[in-house]
Amino acid sequence: MKAKLCWLAAGLLLVVALLVPPGSATAASTRYEAEAAPAVCTGTIDANHTGYTGTGFCNGDNAVGAAVQFTVDAVVAGTATLDIRYANGTTTARPADVFVNGVRAQSVPLDGTGAWTTWLTSTVTVPVTTGANLVRLSPTSANGLPNVDRLDVTAPGPSPSPSPCAPPSASPTSAPPRVTVWLAGDSTVAEPSSGTTCPVGWGNQFAQYFNGNVAVRNSAVGGRSIQTWLYDPNVTGTKNSAGECVVSPQTYSARWQAMLDPTNGMKAGDYLFIQFGINDSTSACPRHVGSARYQQLLGVMASAAKARGARPVFLTPAAAITCSGGTAVGNRGFIAETNAAASANGVPVIDLHRLSYTLYNSLGFCPFNGDYGAGPVGAFFCNDHTHFETAGARQIAGVVARALRDQQIPLASYLR
Ligand code: GCU
Ligand code: CA
Repeated sequence: MKAKLCWLAAGLLLVVALLVPPGSATAASTRYEAEAAPAVCTGTIDANHTGYTGTGFCNGDNAVGAAVQFTVDAVVAGTATLDIRYANGTTTARPADVFVNGVRAQSVPLDGTGAWTTWLTSTVTVPVTTGANLVRLSPTSANGLPNVDRLDVTAPGPSPSPSPCAPPSASPTSAPPRVTVWLAGDSTVAEPSSGTTCPVGWGNQFAQYFNGNVAVRNSAVGGRSIQTWLYDPNVTGTKNSAGECVVSPQTYSARWQAMLDPTNGMKAGDYLFIQFGINDSTSACPRHVGSARYQQLLGVMASAAKARGARPVFLTPAAAITCSGGTAVGNRGFIAETNAAASANGVPVIDLHRLSYTLYNSLGFCPFNGDYGAGPVGAFFCNDHTHFETAGARQIAGVVARALRDQQIPLASYLR
């Protein structure tokens, strides 16, 4: 009887499937604005012609190859429909090739729309692979692209759930993680040295907040400024005339080269979290990093990640515990620098500095008697009031995870 019902249901499903045209089962489209990272615009983000959505549009340089690039997610491989919204206020078409993950998939004419304020949609279909796809509109004429507002993508839907009649498929969870979160930072982020219980960086406790599609690669190292992290062992003890530590030779550290490796390093859809600013405030070389240099190096790292289709996220440094009477207060620098570099590079910033001392307040850590060996503060911090024990690191990692959700950073869709 049960088997008979099952076949009946399957038959009904088949009839429904035959009635519904192919493609209509796919989910609603996802909007990708040209001005929003990780999109990349070879030109400027402008807002001087009305009618765009979001906060602006990409005004590409007027040149062959001056592209706009979107990072488009697909849950399964298949054919995606791309609606390209653009305005071309000239009477000459501005044709472009559409590349997906570096392979030319289509070309679009992008004819004149009559005015720079008249936005039209041009639709193409392209193949996509599971996960993040780099979709690049690359102009083929010297006029470059028209102004590009956004991309609406209807990606292939998830494969139909297995029929209740069919036996469960074998090892459904054996697929490798789809997204790697790369961590660059100092000891407040780093893995503990083997055998030690203190300090434990929050990066060590981050993976538990995600489902099995995320792998965390923690390359944070204790004692590092952003510059020593990037250039070890080539940051010298000498300052140049600008007051910055001389880097010689200018060869990247093995850890950064590993992230840049085309085969095994950051790939499209990955994330790069960057948190420095504690050791950088040292006045002496090799740790010292000045304000402008700090911002510059954040920009270098963000651009390198974006060039690989990965998404950078900046974090302000985690606060140590400092009580001002009954209130935990901030005690770190490079906050303004991190925020400035974030807006200059279109990178989201998680203000871990503020979020961490806000957590200390919510846990009632102040006023505090100075005994780091006992009580809730002792269980959270190592004896130096800066570094975390495992329990503290877990809570700080939780704060970062919550910020992903609160700030709608797309990685949040992988949170448990
Ligand atoms: C004008 C227009 C721009 C456009 C440019 C172009 O300057 O204001 O928005 O991008 O022409 O021809 O590309
Ligand atoms: Ca232009």
